[in-house]
Amino acid sequence: MRIRFKLDGQDVEVDVKHTDTLLKVLKDKIGVGSVNFGCGEGSCGACMVLINGRLRYSCLTLAGYVDGKEVTTVAGLARDGELSEIQKAFLENDAAQCGYCTPGMILTAKVLLEKNPTPSDEELFDALAGNLCRCTGYIPIINAIKSVAKR
Ligand code: FES
Ligand code: FES
Repeated sequence: MRIRFKLDGQDVEVDVKHTDTLLKVLKDKIGVGSVNFGCGEGSCGACMVLINGRLRYSCLTLAGYVDGKEVTTVAGLARDGELSEIQKAFLENDAAQCGYCTPGMILTAKVLLEKNPTPSDEELFDALAGNLCRCTGYIPIINAIKSVAKR
């Protein structure tokens, strides 16, 4: 089947199988570098994208589901070459080491701060429960998100 959707603001058309996941199509067919394959089973958050503004694991989403929809990866948060506030905050707070978890972390933080601009620590930890990081110990990530919340 052929599907059409917006990817980070650009129109995309691609042939997919009914069983293809969105993650497979983004990485293998379109060559997107701003999503990562981690567990492939909805446990790590490395593959997260926004679909019509809602957080989704692209490893658990069939590609056909996004036909006619809008998919945003972390790359789509920058505007005219300018990083978004949350992306800058991750850089400033050394919140990315290997960077594998970073796309999902940033998208999760963006959605959280849109809903709740001043989250408590508990709300932050709850929001990040679906995103695993093996490098940072989470503290720099929490600091980055809090720094945006303070602004
Ligand atoms: S690769 Fe999708 S949640 Fe881990
Ligand atoms: S920075 Fe390496 S997994 Fe999070």
